[in-house]
Amino acid sequence: MGRVIVIASGKGGVGKTTMTANLGIALTKQNKKTALLDMDMGLRNIDVMLGMENRVLDHLGDYFEGSLDWQEVLTTDERYPGLSVLAAAQNLDPSLVTEDSFARLIHELKENFDLILIDAPAGIGPFFRLAIGQADEGIVVAQPVVPSVRDADKVLHLMEEAGIRRRFILLNGLRYTLLRHGITMTPQDITEVLGTDLVGVVPEDVQAIIACNKGEPVVGTGCKSGRAIERIAGRMCGMAIPMPALNRRRGGLFHR
Ligand SMILES: Nc1ncnc2c1ncn2[C@@H]1O[C@H](COP(=O)(O)OP(=O)(O)OP(=O)(O)O)[C@@H](O)[C@H]1O
Ligand SMILES: [Mg+2]
Repeated sequence: MGRVIVIASGKGGVGKTTMTANLGIALTKQNKKTALLDMDMGLRNIDVMLGMENRVLDHLGDYFEGSLDWQEVLTTDERYPGLSVLAAAQNLDPSLVTEDSFARLIHELKENFDLILIDAPAGIGPFFRLAIGQADEGIVVAQPVVPSVRDADKVLHLMEEAGIRRRFILLNGLRYTLLRHGITMTPQDITEVLGTDLVGVVPEDVQAIIACNKGEPVVGTGCKSGRAIERIAGRMCGMAIPMPALNRRRGGLFHR
């Protein structure tokens, strides 16, 4: 049975979709057959970020409306072997998305994939709650700023209440110059405040913005954010990859 991992944040714009899309590709490179489920309904994210929007013929709306089977709403791309995307619906009557139909979809995906990553919408609304209700594990993406960490705390509590026992923080957008100057929270500060372990730290990287605008992944390019995401995927697969010892004094370790 596949593992279902929900990627959420509370606060918007912290990099959930970037992490989900790139982790998906990194996990397929570890020979894990991976499905990416875009639950940010009304917006189209993952397929656009991977330059796959022209390949999307059918989407989750067609599944929830009952016109298509789950296999028929999978989008693949020869550039990303082993990866399937279930694209979000642009317009969908939320009342059609029942717990039952979502649970049936997740059951089928678990039977057919090693890993299912759910890109949750920002906030703690109905689609977020639906996603945490079916997930085995949770990754909360946070940036090293107080509002993001506060929202991450709320999301971690809701995941705990939903029965998700394996929960991790993914710290995204760390700026080591700010870290060195004591302006930003350290990864250690954040794990202490949240009482939750890190799955990894991704530095702020202009390449992530360039890649996103081009509809291309950062993994496999050798850039610092891509390498950090590859290390996270390795940890998710049980590999013992040490966490960078980032603190104010040694804030430059990402350069190694
Ligand atoms: N490590 C990073 N360094 C620099 N820019 C980043 C990094 N991670 C993400 N970004 C940029 O931040 C922006 C928001 O990212 P993304 O869309 O993944 O966030 P999100 O949490 O999914 O947003 P939303 O809550 O709206 O769904 C994008 O332009 C992306 O390229
Ligand atoms: Mg998003």
